Amino acid sequence: ERWRLYDFPTSKAPAFKSARMPNMNFLSLIEAKRDGQTLDPVQIKEIIGEYTAGRILDYQMAAFLMAVYFRGLTREETRALMLAMRDSGDVLSFPKDPRPVVDKHSTGGVGDKVSLPLAPLLACLGFRVPMISGRGLGITGGTLDKLDSIPGFNSLPPIERIIETVQNVGCVICGQTARMVPADKGLYALRDVTATVPSIPLIVASILSKKLAEGLNALVLDVKFGVAAFMQTQEKARELAQMLVALGNECGVNTRALLTNMDTPLGRAAGNWLEVKEAVLCLESRGPQDLRELVIACAAHLLVQSGKAKPLEAAHAQATDCLASGKPREKWNEMLAAQGADLAAFDRKLALDHTAPVVVELKAPAAGYVSRCNARILGEAVRDLGGGRFTKESGINYDVGVDAIAKPGEPIKAGGVLARIHAAERAQADAACAPLKTAFSISAQRPAAESLIAEIIEPPK
Ligand code: URA
Repeated sequence: ERWRLYDFPTSKAPAFKSARMPNMNFLSLIEAKRDGQTLDPVQIKEIIGEYTAGRILDYQMAAFLMAVYFRGLTREETRALMLAMRDSGDVLSFPKDPRPVVDKHSTGGVGDKVSLPLAPLLACLGFRVPMISGRGLGITGGTLDKLDSIPGFNSLPPIERIIETVQNVGCVICGQTARMVPADKGLYALRDVTATVPSIPLIVASILSKKLAEGLNALVLDVKFGVAAFMQTQEKARELAQMLVALGNECGVNTRALLTNMDTPLGRAAGNWLEVKEAVLCLESRGPQDLRELVIACAAHLLVQSGKAKPLEAAHAQATDCLASGKPREKWNEMLAAQGADLAAFDRKLALDHTAPVVVELKAPAAGYVSRCNARILGEAVRDLGGGRFTKESGINYDVGVDAIAKPGEPIKAGGVLARIHAAERAQADAACAPLKTAFSISAQRPAAESLIAEIIEPPK
């Protein structure tokens, strides 16, 4: 029992011996993968079935994951793993309706609050959006943590309520229920503590199993690269994106990926509540340009992918007009109300400049142009202020973070504000200043502008 990190709701029996293949035990499959052999899809299905049923213990699964980490999985094996994980729990099923069911998934970054304005925008564009999201870990923020900073908001509705809200409002942003993709809950917790997270087939199976369980017609992926991304180089991000796009499409979900730069935080705010405020600004057409660009790009691609608009430029114009109409801002309130939020308390909180007890300005030491704003250092600072988690069990402070972030290419005066630090205590704000200073560089020349969206990965024609 003590080897289990994740408690599956079912009983535990001793070691795995397949009923369909009585001569096979899990040890022989670990050996096979260790020795670089290819497993049969049926074997992979049985492994996931047995693990989810509690009949494979974590020490053996950990050994298997490490074998996969070193030996990799073929595309066929990855597909089998992904489908078995998807089928380990409930798969959402929506009533027949002309509105396509779509979602976006980001591999995670600092200041990435795209999901918040995107879900209501997509609902206003005639989609249904069951946006099942996660919590933050380390420097990467999580959509659910951001939403939990909203008074009264329920980020964990039951499955029936998820479907009802999607049908009635058009969008929901919430966490995975215990009944959805339980295999990933167990495997991810195990990967996290056995150094087996950065394996492309395991990441692909983990991400797509959850997205496929949403019953989607189309999916846009935001695969980040750069200092604060999971995949630090564009090449690695491309490799991941190509695999995600190929398998997503093979499984009947029209899937595309955008490769986007995560050297610099997205927008001007990082930290849970500060990001919600910025998301609302975006919905009011007042937000930062890079956030708006990515929100509109994701919406435009989904319009094209689902056949609702053509070509991409027209889809872009449609998404831009819809955002400018103010309807997505109203839809946001509708979604919040459907998920239990206290809108009056939300509005009162929005009106405040800050909700953390201490705010300190970080000043530029010299005049010039901001030439670098390192997203990793900013993410670490937010985490250390209490806005992120060191372990899955840690609590977080929703009000802390960094805002008014000066972005590369912007002119700055000596003594101008590079960022504002929102902290629970003065000592924590002071402690954040030294590392944060190293996040920024200032140069005499304006740096060349870098594009946010570096590549679009589509399925091979
Ligand atoms: N995100 C996921 O959901 N799974 C992974 O394995 C990595 C990132």
